Amino acid sequence: MKFILNQKVMETGESPSFHTLDFLRKIGIKGVKEGCHEGDCGACMVLIGELKDSQVKYKAMNSCILPLGRIEGKHVVTIEGLNLKEKLNPIQQALFDEGGVQCGYCTPGFVIALMAYFMNIDLEDTEIITAVEGNICRCTGYNSILRAAEKASNVISSLDDSEGRIAALIKADYLPSYFSGIINQLKDIQIEPQPEKGTYVAGGTDLFVNRQTAENPIFLAELGFDKIWSNESHVYVGAAADIETIRTSEELNFLFDTAHHLARVSSLPIRQQATIGGNVVNASPIGDLTIYFLALDAEIGLVLGEDKRIMKLKDFFKGYKILELQDREIVEWFRIKKEKKLLSFEKVAKRMHMDIASVNSALSLKIEDKKIKEPHLSGGGIGPIPMYLEKASQYLENKEISSEVVKEAARIADTEINPIDDVRGSAKYKRLLLRQLIYAHFVKLFPELEVSL
Ligand SMILES: Cc1cc2nc3c(=O)[nH]c(=O)nc-3n(C[C@H](O)[C@H](O)[C@H](O)COP(=O)(O)OP(=O)(O)OC[C@H]3O[C@@H](n4cnc5c(N)ncnc54)[C@H](O)[C@@H]3O)c2cc1C
Ligand code: FES
Ligand code: FES
Repeated sequence: MKFILNQKVMETGESPSFHTLDFLRKIGIKGVKEGCHEGDCGACMVLIGELKDSQVKYKAMNSCILPLGRIEGKHVVTIEGLNLKEKLNPIQQALFDEGGVQCGYCTPGFVIALMAYFMNIDLEDTEIITAVEGNICRCTGYNSILRAAEKASNVISSLDDSEGRIAALIKADYLPSYFSGIINQLKDIQIEPQPEKGTYVAGGTDLFVNRQTAENPIFLAELGFDKIWSNESHVYVGAAADIETIRTSEELNFLFDTAHHLARVSSLPIRQQATIGGNVVNASPIGDLTIYFLALDAEIGLVLGEDKRIMKLKDFFKGYKILELQDREIVEWFRIKKEKKLLSFEKVAKRMHMDIASVNSALSLKIEDKKIKEPHLSGGGIGPIPMYLEKASQYLENKEISSEVVKEAARIADTEINPIDDVRGSAKYKRLLLRQLIYAHFVKLFPELEVSL
């Protein structure tokens, strides 16, 4: 398989399941560092450039959980590929000037993350902190890193973008000039066919954690399952659509505040890699996307050769990691009704970003003639499967909102769940969390409501 590493076209016979970080270190690229090897720290971050709509679109990804097969035909950039010949680029210079570097182990990852941000953001955007939410520094204070990030972004805001962002960044000495020729080099790379049988890999953020590998990987994004589209009645989300694409999708944000809700899912590099299909098929009882789409009463489209079938997402989970999925069957898409509803998503985790939930929950509903219509309540971390809370949802139908109704819904939900004691908290604590999250949905959706304990 072929890809471009910095300025050079590379060809390797390594397994497509081999981790990109380990490959890069093996061939002597030392700017990528190994920290956690779990996608948590950003030390191994690289830029991945992909041909899309006649442009090369770059994003930052953690190479430790990125199988080589996912970089075939793409441009991989390490810190070595960002270095200018005789000076530091403005991000590196700002980190130096502001004292944002101590031991330097995390620094390549921060530079990559910031470069990816500058390659993509709206120039008016000032939320620079999102750029580095997936990077951990163990010794320098974060304030100096953020000062450096802001300093580097001050220059960015005055860029002339008229000939495209890459050209502008080259002109301002952020990127080396070879970036302008990458587009033509990528067009020349032939992609090898995928195996007929093997392990389906979407983002690989579950499959490739901690040096795990997959036999004969079949990369679903390359099969075209990564789009979001709609018709008159439904919005469809391709199973290989990544979480950041879902979070920022115009179709979904027209209906709900998805951009805000899904900002709580992991960190930007993970959201750009992890998919909804992987979240659902992994069947973790606390999968955020699963809980979100359960509350949207989503349907799931499955395909096996010529055979296609559709079922409710809530009927997909049969027991702990047991799914209504046949051998070789692929989840093709999820669909939800194209209608505006009130939607709330809540998550309690030990850390704000990069963390799975202790308990999460979502609720969607409509209000007609002051009454609740079509309520769907879900909860995660409170049983062996991601739970659609059937009885509480049924109870809410046709009720007028009041403090008593909310409390009764939470009481009924408590009878449906079966949490266990684990590292994320005791069963008792999780019951308490679910109740509080249900209260939080209503307090947030109906600010005039006061739910007293
Ligand atoms: C650092 C880190 C932070 C994380 N934070 C969160 C978080 O905040 N919230 C959260 O919910 N999760 C989190 N996760 C877990 C993970 O990112 C998600 O579960 C993610 O959505 C998995 O998707 P994927 O595409 O990477 O799955 P993959 O690893 O590619 O696949 C997972 C499983 O699904 C199967 N599969 C994938 N797609 C299909 C399909 N279309 N049809 C059939 N089978 C399929 C694969 O064969 C595999 O068995 C985190 C993970 C990491 C490493
Ligand atoms: S080594 Fe920590 S994210 Fe890759
Ligand atoms: S400078 Fe040492 S880990 Fe960040």
